Amino acid sequence: MASIIDALRSDHSRLTKLLDALERQVDAFGEGGTLDFEIADGVLHYCQTYPDLHHHPREDMVFDRLKARDPEAAAAMGDLRTEHRKLAQVTERFAEALAAVEQDIPMERDELTNAASAFLKGYRHHILMEEKYFFPAAQRALTPEDWRQLAAQAAPIADPLFDNRNDERFDALYQDIVAWDSNLPTGA
Ligand SMILES: [Fe+2]
Repeated sequence: MASIIDALRSDHSRLTKLLDALERQVDAFGEGGTLDFEIADGVLHYCQTYPDLHHHPREDMVFDRLKARDPEAAAAMGDLRTEHRKLAQVTERFAEALAAVEQDIPMERDELTNAASAFLKGYRHHILMEEKYFFPAAQRALTPEDWRQLAAQAAPIADPLFDNRNDERFDALYQDIVAWDSNLPTGA
C-alpha cells in the first residue's frame, strides 16, 4: 500500500497537470484569445471537491503530528492550515471571476487573468513548499506508529478526476489533459 506521503505526492503531480491545463487557457486568454470555460470550471470543481475536502485535511493531520514531534521544523514552515484556508479563498475568488464572465457580467479581461494568476501562483508555490520542506520534515520526524495511526484515521478516497470519474464537469478537462499528455515527446 502506498504510504500517505506517496499518495500526497501523487496528488501533487496530478494537480500540477490541472494547473498546467488551466495555465494554457489563461495564456491564450491573456493573448486575446478565448478561454475554455469547461476546462477552467473542471479545475475549480476539482480543487473544491478533492484538495479542499480531502488532500489538504490529510496534510493538516500530518502537520499536527509534525508539530508534536518536531515543533521547530513545523514552525519553520508557517501555519499550513492557514495556507490551506488561503488557497481555498483564492480558489473562491477565481470561481467568482469565472462565473461573472460566464454570466456576461461586464469585467475587464485583466480581472479574470489576475484572479487566475493568483490561484495558479498560490497553488504552485504551496506545492513546492510542501515537497521541499514539509514532506521531508514529516518523513524525518514521524514514527512508524504515527504513520499507522494517520493511515487508520484518514482512509484515502478515489480521485474524482483520475481514478473514479463519473462527473461530467470533468470531461473537458480530462480530455484536454489526455490530449496534451499524448502529444508530449516520449521520455519527457
Ligand atoms: Fe499539498
